[in-house]
Amino acid sequence: MPKPHTFKAVIPVAGLGTRFLPATKALPKEMLPVVDKPVIQYVVEEAVNAGLTDVLMITGRNKNALENHFDRNFELEVKLEEKGDEMRLERVTRSTDLAEIHYVRQGDPRGLGHAVFKARAHVGNQPFALLLGDDIIDAAEDLLIRMLALNSSTGACVVALMEVPDDELGAYGVAAVEPTDSVDVVRVTGLVEKPLPGEAPSNLAVVGRYVLVPEIFDVLEHLPPGRGGEIQLTDALQTLAVKPDAPGVLGIVYRGSRHDTGDRLAYLTAVVEMALDRGDLGPAFGAWLDDFVDARRGRG
Ligand code: UTP
Repeated sequence: MPKPHTFKAVIPVAGLGTRFLPATKALPKEMLPVVDKPVIQYVVEEAVNAGLTDVLMITGRNKNALENHFDRNFELEVKLEEKGDEMRLERVTRSTDLAEIHYVRQGDPRGLGHAVFKARAHVGNQPFALLLGDDIIDAAEDLLIRMLALNSSTGACVVALMEVPDDELGAYGVAAVEPTDSVDVVRVTGLVEKPLPGEAPSNLAVVGRYVLVPEIFDVLEHLPPGRGGEIQLTDALQTLAVKPDAPGVLGIVYRGSRHDTGDRLAYLTAVVEMALDRGDLGPAFGAWLDDFVDARRGRG
């Protein structure tokens, strides 16, 4: 089994981001800022925190902003050096030095499964981590590290699961599960993409972190379009979950912080929560927010 540091990370960033139009007309949603960093930088930092420094991004149209963000900006660097502004210089160069980033184009955005299939040549015959580029998970919770370790000890695909309210299940892939001997680890026995009301097999939704085995590519290669006419990663995982000779699919039930920044409301709450947690901005922002809420309540 490979050690965690040999896993590659794959981050799809080729979705159309229609829920966030018009902001995402010319900008990938993964470049939207949360406080002062684009969403994608949090995701890459989480991968690096888990020891994954070889990162493949599956890009779509408008990929220039993403590439530029992880490239050098000589003009800015020279200006900041001349000024002796070390703090801002570090902010500019941090994204460049984080990881070794590769890019491949998805072509038509035909769904997450189709995007993942594009990683085959780069990943090769190894398990790999998949991090959705618009999902921010608190790196301090070590979720990805636990998922990599579970794959290493079992050989199974590993998905991150979160309990979500009934009325939100229709936005996710939802898992049918059985308990295992380990706390917060379940065996996934089936998966349904965006279930209709009353058809969800549980309250456990798959969120944007996966450790996948290379067999997933063989399944994706022949997978017909599923829900919404898209090639669904959920359908490929369902195949591996029920295939008798496959290593199966395990889930880690995650209860920490997660923000689906591709959703406008979740994006707004991400900005507020993460700004409040910041040592530099949090106290002043929190004081303003308290006053603001009091004033609004007063008016109501
Ligand atoms: P979403 O389900 O959020 O889809 O994708 P979307 O199309 O980008 O967004 P909306 O629903 O239109 O607002 C989850 C992740 O998969 C990537 C997205 O970039 C996002 O990181 N994705 C999705 C692709 O890379 N390619 C696709 O064809 C679809």
